Amino acid sequence: MTEKKTIFIRVKDVEKVYSKKNLLGQEQRQVAVDGVTLDIYKGETLGLVGESGSGKSTLAKLILGLESPTAGVIDYTGLTEVDLKNQSLQIIYQAPFSALNPYLSALDIVKEPLYALPKEEATARARYLLERVGITGNDVNKRPKSFSGGQRQRIGIARAVASRPQFVVCDEPTSALDVSIQARILDLLSDLQEEFNLSYLFISHDLTVVEHFSDRIAVLYKGKLVELAPAKELFKSPQHPYTSYLLTANLPLNPAQARQQLAAIQTYIQDFELTAEFDWVEVAPAHFVRRNRV
Ligand SMILES: Nc1ncnc2c1ncn2[C@@H]1O[C@H](COP(=O)(O)OP(=O)(O)O)[C@@H](O)[C@H]1O
Ligand SMILES: [Mg+2]
Repeated sequence: MTEKKTIFIRVKDVEKVYSKKNLLGQEQRQVAVDGVTLDIYKGETLGLVGESGSGKSTLAKLILGLESPTAGVIDYTGLTEVDLKNQSLQIIYQAPFSALNPYLSALDIVKEPLYALPKEEATARARYLLERVGITGNDVNKRPKSFSGGQRQRIGIARAVASRPQFVVCDEPTSALDVSIQARILDLLSDLQEEFNLSYLFISHDLTVVEHFSDRIAVLYKGKLVELAPAKELFKSPQHPYTSYLLTANLPLNPAQARQQLAAIQTYIQDFELTAEFDWVEVAPAHFVRRNRV
């Protein structure tokens, strides 16, 4: 991959606190995203990893403007006001079935975001996109329930790119699919990225997926960014104990690896509390790690 350095979206000190009432009626604060700063470059795929509940989807919603941050700012430096009005930011969800209107045909689902176009043009574009993702012929008139999980995800993808977005969040787009289908969906996303010059924020808890798909990877832990690096570099030389933990967490282990993992987890536990005061250290070019300031 060539270096892609035009800043597209700047996320600066962004925080999202949800408050919920507990059973006793007391207000409880849930810090879902805690002071995240990062830039997204034009045309890149930024992988976002972290375990369930680490704040990945919340961060994505903040970037898409579906939620507002309780602190911090998001600058769409690479986008004009017109771009923002024209659905330039889109999302592909994990569970394609619940994301698709069950009463509409595939064709109408993909046409829906194209309401501003003349009807014939919208139909032609929707047909093209459906064909592009492999839904052809009379199948375009079928409703979501007639399709397999992989096909539904393809329809969701066609819909997401219909309005010619510049930035697409893929929120665990293959997690609900069979392994055999995952690779083909990833290939499709990769082809569409090239065809439409898309920037992706690619969310996954599965590091093996993001490794091949991402230019850079951001690691989120308890709502905080702990490491950010070019994908290969992160795998070769993880710096934060939480990243090492994620890397080793689902590998088949030989005894040496098992010892290494144990050591990683021990360090991880020592570092369990991320202090409020920290340094964001550039350990290698474009490779940053959060270090507790002691
Ligand atoms: N609408 C909401 N109201 C209250 N808490 C929420 C809401 N959305 C997310 N959270 C909480 O914020 C944290 C991060 O959630 P989420 O961003 O969905 O994580 P992830 O996508 O990494 O699994 C979780 O503890 C979750 O329970
Ligand atoms: Mg999520």
